[in-house]
Formats: sequence, structure tokens, C-alpha cells
Amino acid sequence: MVSPAKLIKTSAPAVAKLFGEHAIAHGYSAIALAIDLRTYITVRKINQEYSIFQFKNIGLSKLVVQYKNGKFNLITLRKNIQEELKYFITLINVFENEFNVKFSGIEVTVESNIPINSGLASSAAFLSSLTYAFSKFYNLSLDLDSIAKICYGVEKLVQGIASPMDTTISTFGGVYYINLKENIFQKLNITSFPKLIILQIDREGTTKELVHKVNNLKQKYPDVVENIFKTIHEIVNQGLKCLEENNFECIGNLMFINHHLLSSLGVSNEKCDFIIEYLRKIGVLGAKISGAGGGGTIIVLAPGMEEHVCKFIKPYVRNVYITNLTNIGVRDEY
Ligand code: MEV
Repeated sequence: MVSPAKLIKTSAPAVAKLFGEHAIAHGYSAIALAIDLRTYITVRKINQEYSIFQFKNIGLSKLVVQYKNGKFNLITLRKNIQEELKYFITLINVFENEFNVKFSGIEVTVESNIPINSGLASSAAFLSSLTYAFSKFYNLSLDLDSIAKICYGVEKLVQGIASPMDTTISTFGGVYYINLKENIFQKLNITSFPKLIILQIDREGTTKELVHKVNNLKQKYPDVVENIFKTIHEIVNQGLKCLEENNFECIGNLMFINHHLLSSLGVSNEKCDFIIEYLRKIGVLGAKISGAGGGGTIIVLAPGMEEHVCKFIKPYVRNVYITNLTNIGVRDEY
């Protein structure tokens, strides 16, 4: 192996799901976009036998993980943190087993402004940024397709059920139409999109638990749930047309319909449903939960009234962000 580089810094963006989450994990379609919240990874060499992984301001309260001879020394036992760390441990195993990387004498720092476990693809952004950083640090020259594929593989291993949506879009950036039935991964030629308001709501359950919840419903009522997925697939197709025509009123209406179908799959909650109906009353174009649900994230389309919406809704939610589309996927920071 070529000797490692000295210092690498990379980043990758969050992903907001416009239409199609959950259905896409069962082979249907979705439209989603990269937004300008990012996870940053720094890798540097240190003069130690062990490696240190530091998770700074990402809700893990400066968690430090030591790693030596295949053993992790985790300094927390909180369940949700253990779940989040599974993505990281699985990726470490992939690099050791498939690329023969020996992790010793490095310090990896993770910093992010993407809320974790909230439906904004924080795990995909983390995986994509870290995979790119390791590829550069160990001179593996992985291309973007390989990075997206590795990250999808990790999500699938951790969650059991997953789609390549988040990992593809975090790696490549932009707005994507993905149709798994026809194997279409199309980066849409869209350079500007109205600002998306992101509302962060306390979440019940991890992505893994929520995708399994939908899968259990599908086992119980296969025809009913397949038909809901098919309707979501139709929303995606309609949504694609509306996007091509810059018809944001139509996109907003479809967002509301998609939300209620997600709610019927059991992945919304009372608070999200209440907030979304309230937003409809105050005149936003569209709103829906985004991602696995259970709370997490509501995305809101309200061109021209972003500040107004944020002011009204702030007391009811954990955090609000006003975000923009980014066409930049995983990238070097220096
Ligand atoms: C999670 O961000 C989106 C889901 O559709 C799962 C996936 O596609 O992997 C719920």
C-alpha cells in the first residue's frame, strides 16, 4: 500500500426527500435533493499505535472512540448513539476487509451541521464524506460511483432494508429522480429551487426501526401497502412533470398528498400531522415529513414566506433551518 497522505478534509451534504421515501426502499421511485447542510471529516496522522475518532457537535456531545487491533473503546452506552455508531463500525470493517486498510495512528474528526437521526440523511453524508476521506488518505482513488455503492452497502447492512437514494444524492449532489423499477438514476438539470424550510421534530425510532415498521405493515396487508407504494410512485411521476414545468403549486399539493400516505403507513405522528395541517392553513405551498419519519423532519415549501413561517412555527419545534439546493456532493474542503 502507498504511504498515507498527511491531512485530508472532506464534506458531503444532507438530503431532503421531496417524494417517495419508504416506497423506494421497496423498489419504487423517489425525487430528492441535496441541501446545504454538510458533514465535515478531517483525517490526520498522529504518532500513536491506536486511532482516535472524535464526533464533535453532532448531538454525540464530543464523543471520542479509540480503536486498536480491531477493538473499539466506546465511551458511551446510550442506545441511540450505539445505533448511529453501527454505520461507522460497519464502514471501518469494509475498509479493513475489502481494501486491507490498517487503522492505526490516525485521528478522524467528524463535525456536522446536519441534525442526526432526523431524516436528513445524516448517516449517508457521514458515510460518503468518510469514505471519500479514507479513499484520499490511503490513496485508494475510489470514484464517486464506488463511493456511493460502498455507502449504500453499509446502509443496507445496518438497516436491513434501504435504498440507494440518500447515499447517491449525498455523493453526487443535486436533484435526483430515481426509479428502481427501471434502474433510472437521473440527475435533473435544475440549478435553482426555492428555499426549503426544515423543521426538526423530536423523533421516535431510528431509520432501521421505521423501515421495519413499514415492512411489517406490508407483511400484514400486502395488497393495501403495495397500492399505497404505487400511488406514491404516481406522485413521483407527476412531481417530475411539475418540476420540469417549474410548477411549485403542483409540487406543494403533491407534498401534502405524499405526507398523508406516509401517515397512513404509520410513520408520521400526531405532532407532525398537526403542524402540517396548520402550515396548510397559513398558506404554505406544501409540507410533508421527509425521510424515515416518526417525527424527525418536516420540509416546507413556502417561497417568499420563509421568515414568516419560521417565526410562527419556531415555538413548536426543536429547530428550524432555511436551506438551499446544492449541486455539490462529496468534496474536498482543502
Ligand atoms: C430514509 O432517509 C429514506 C427511506 O426511504 C429509507 C431508504 O430509502 O433507505 C425511509
